[in-house]
Parts: sequence; structure tokens; C-alpha cells
Amino acid sequence: MGNEASTAISPFSAEDAQSLQSQYKSSQKDCFLTAMERYSVRSYDSTRPLPEDVIKQINDYISQEDVCTGPFGTKVKLSLLERSKVGGSLGTFKIISGTDVFLVAIIGESADLLEVGYVFEKVILHLTTLGLGTCFMTGTFSGSDFTKGAGCSPTEKVYAISPVGYAKTPEHQVIFEKRLATNHRRLAFSEFCTVDPTVTERPLNLIKALEAARFSPSALNKQPTRIYVTKAAPTEGSDNTEYCVSFAEKSTKPECGVDVGISLLHFMQVIEELTGTKGELSKTQPSITIPSGFTFRVSWKGSLSSQVQQSTDQPPASDSE
Ligand SMILES: Cc1cc2nc3c(=O)[nH]c(=O)nc-3n(C[C@H](O)[C@H](O)[C@H](O)COP(=O)(O)O)c2cc1C
Repeated sequence: MGNEASTAISPFSAEDAQSLQSQYKSSQKDCFLTAMERYSVRSYDSTRPLPEDVIKQINDYISQEDVCTGPFGTKVKLSLLERSKVGGSLGTFKIISGTDVFLVAIIGESADLLEVGYVFEKVILHLTTLGLGTCFMTGTFSGSDFTKGAGCSPTEKVYAISPVGYAKTPEHQVIFEKRLATNHRRLAFSEFCTVDPTVTERPLNLIKALEAARFSPSALNKQPTRIYVTKAAPTEGSDNTEYCVSFAEKSTKPECGVDVGISLLHFMQVIEELTGTKGELSKTQPSITIPSGFTFRVSWKGSLSSQVQQSTDQPPASDSE
């Protein structure tokens, strides 16, 4: 990735970056700020165990049907496990210290990993908003110990875990600032994302959603996701420009997709919060060329005009922005 500090970096204008900085410091965090400040926490503060009310809040959240359901309908079982339920050393190989609580994702044999990534990351970002540290993990833990501890049926297994707790040395703000100012441990924007020349405007909503996707986590930080932005064919009766955002993966294995699901979640959460609409997803490849060695996974189509009402005291606005 070269000399990150000196390369052309963020697609935000200097004014946008400054405004985002001050929002981060002053206000309640929105989805974009949350996605940009999340990082993998491996050392937790053992003197600050999770309070019962926080555990209850998490359990209430992960038991909601819409939280556990992926964008194409796959259900993922989510559970909070205490160390004592798992037993043994957990197989986290001393990588994780200072917490006894783990979020686990239980899946059936033919689960779509794109959806599993989407659902698990939704919870990870929710935990980030609660001030908690997390680390999405699919490798460095004992799958059999966790599968047993979670009481899985013979056709189920624990696919992913995340420790949950308060970071020993919280670095959210440092990470946020680095991500806003540099390509902090990520591909350059131009390598991650290709914008078709017919897309002449670059609305801030779109840039924020793409940035949230670029800084999403991936296994071994391999960053296999690539995004292609084109204009969508106009919808009859609509004056709004619609965009098509296609997600591909640097892999030809059909069973992959977890990292793309995570990037998709980051993109969609920011878009939904900023525009008030979810857009439409499709697994049919639009007419775009994907380079060899990459596989098309999913595309999002929608308008980027904001339908979000600014204030509840005002009558509904008749026009979108
Ligand atoms: C699907 C997935 C699997 C991962 N598995 C592991 C793991 O087994 N062990 C680990 O320590 N970190 C794991 N990570 C964390 C990544 O190493 C980390 O997200 C990446 O290096 C980017 O760093 P960041 O999360 O701090 O932005 C995983 C992340 C993802 C998304």
C-alpha cells in the first residue's frame, strides 16, 4: 500500500473532513462515524466486566428477528456465551485477554456466508455504539469447544465469534482520525472502488457509504471486496437518478462471501441512515465487467436523495433534497 501518509488519500474534501471531525467529537455517533471508529480489540479491561444490564441489552438486541436475518432471508442464530459455558482454553491462543464474554454466530450446513457476515457485523457495529470492543473472528478459536458450549445440533456449528468487553486501551478516536486522514491499513479508494465515468456527481451520501465499506474488517485484512458504481437504468415515473453499486470479491470460490457481506452491511447501514431508504438488492450481475480473478456477489440499486426528515417539529417536506 506504499507510503500511506503521503499518498492522495481520502475522497472527502478538506471541508467535509473537518466537519466530520467535529461531528465525531461533539455529537451522538451515526452509522458512518461508528463504522469508521470500529477496530478489532484483542485486549480487554479485566477490571471492568460487562454489567448485567448491558448483557441484558445485548441479549434483547440479538433476539430480535430482523437483527438475526440477512438481506436475502437467511437466519443466523446469535448467542452470548460466558467463558465458563465454553470451557477449556477457548482456543483463542492468548490472542484475546481480559474478557469472559463472547458473541457467537451459529449456522446450519448450507448457510450463505455473505448473509452471515452481514448479520454478525450488524451486531458488531451495534456493540460499538454501546462503547464496547469486539473482534470478528472465524479462525483463531476452538470451533469444537464453542460449538459444544453453544449447544449446537449435529447440523449446526459456531462459525464466528467475537469477544465483547471494554477495551483495555481504547483507541477508537485514534483509529477514526487515522482513517479519515490516511488509508490506515486499507486499499486506496481508487483500488477499492471503480466509479463509472457516466457518474459525474459524487454525492456526499455515496462517498460516506463507500468509505464505511472500504474500512470494513476482513479476515487477515485481505480486503477481497471491490465495488463498481454505475448509473442504474431510470425507473419509470421517477425523476431521481438511481445508482447501481455492485460488490465483487477477489476469489473464485463460490462458498466465500463473508467479507463482502460485511462491506455490504457497512454500505447499506450508512445509505439507509442518510437517505431513509434501503434500496434493492440483487444477486444477478448487472451489465458491468468484473476483472478476471474476481466474482460478482451482489448489487445494490437505489436513489441517493435524502428522504430523512430533519426535524419532527416541522411538517413533512414535500421535496427530497
Ligand atoms: C471474517 C473475519 C475473520 C477474522 N478472523 C480473525 C481471527 O480468527 N483472529 C483474529 O485475531 N482476527 C480475526 N479477524 C480480524 C481481522 O484481522 C481484522 O478485522 C483486520 O485485520 C482489520 O483490522 P481492524 O478490524 O482493526 O480494522 C477477522 C476479521 C474478519 C472480518
